[in-house]
Amino acid sequence: MGEVVVRHGEPGDYAAIHEIYQQPKAIWGTLQTPFPSGEMWRERMAHPPEGLKHLVALIDGTLVGQLGLHAFPGSRRRHAASLGMAVHDAWQGQGAGNALMAAAIDLADNWLRIVRLELTVFTDNEPAIALYRKWGFEIEGTHRKYGLRAGELVDTHAMARVQE
Ligand SMILES: CC(C)(COP(=O)(O)OP(=O)(O)OC[C@H]1O[C@@H](n2cnc3c(N)ncnc32)[C@H](O)[C@@H]1OP(=O)(O)O)[C@@H](O)C(=O)NCCC(=O)NCCS
Repeated sequence: MGEVVVRHGEPGDYAAIHEIYQQPKAIWGTLQTPFPSGEMWRERMAHPPEGLKHLVALIDGTLVGQLGLHAFPGSRRRHAASLGMAVHDAWQGQGAGNALMAAAIDLADNWLRIVRLELTVFTDNEPAIALYRKWGFEIEGTHRKYGLRAGELVDTHAMARVQE
């Protein structure tokens, strides 16, 4: 397996991230819409909203994964953050997801003092649920008919990792 490196996502990464979110499994597993606009990703990476931190994973120098950690600074939810992530279809199963999650959790626990990390995941997304459980996320509840996917309204789990 190649060496996985995690760093902050920069504006110039937008084309590689756009490519990740066009992959069939990324669209299946997230709430991204097919045919994402490159301009949308250029804009998103160039002007992230306050509190949003983009991490990217590289394997042998190729950008293969992205994780967005969205905190809520200046609010009564400043102890919380939500996250979303995807790894390029061709690079899954090679440790990028683990490396992104390890980095996000270190950042959340040790540098931002985030007590509650939360996310939603389609209930049939077994690889993602396994990854989240491995890192201490638990299912808190189920949203029924949460998102449209390939013509069907699909349930999601609300999952969170909470520091006592
Ligand atoms: C979920 C996802 C990010 C995992 O990334 P990855 O780089 O393939 O993950 P890794 O190779 O680092 O594996 C991390 C863990 O994920 C789980 N996992 C990965 N692939 C799996 C599979 N096919 N079946 C079951 N569990 C799997 C395992 O727990 C694994 O830990 P292990 O290596 O100790 O067994 C990736 O599958 C993905 O991008 N899917 C499409 C987009 C998506 O669904 N995003 C999540 C939205 S909520």
